[in-house]
Amino acid sequence: MKIVNLPKFEDERGNLSFVEQITHIPFEISRTYWIYDVPGGEERGGHAFRKNEEFVVALSGAFDVVVDDGKQKKTFTLNRSYYGLYIPCGLWRSMNNFSTNSLALEFGSIPYTRADYIEDYDGFLKEKSNGKI
Ligand code: TYD
Repeated sequence: MKIVNLPKFEDERGNLSFVEQITHIPFEISRTYWIYDVPGGEERGGHAFRKNEEFVVALSGAFDVVVDDGKQKKTFTLNRSYYGLYIPCGLWRSMNNFSTNSLALEFGSIPYTRADYIEDYDGFLKEKSNGKI
């Protein structure tokens, strides 16, 4: 996983950033979704993907993404619209500390399918330890 600094064009008229697949997002984008209107104190995510890779941008506001490889947890605070977080598959990830009116934009490498989700943490640790993910 890594933070990617996206291009930023500062301008008196307002700033502009952009993202391109392969150049900034290290996969071909198959899906884009966004999370918004998150009430204070709520958590999203709380699962792992078997194959789906993700790229997350806080378009507005701020939130934390906690990424766990089964041994170690890392917290990334996304609070600038020109930061992207790349999350490879096979990691447990959750999102919390959403600020009021924050907007999370997420790009995925595969179409939505529930079969790609690992939703219980013990199951995740098992798949991790037997090399399935
Ligand atoms: P989910 O991924 O479970 O949200 P979170 O992990 O943030 O709590 O998705 C919530 C609901 O949205 C779930 O019923 C499935 C649906 N959904 C789609 O239909 N397509 C998608 O691409 C995503 C991400 C979710």
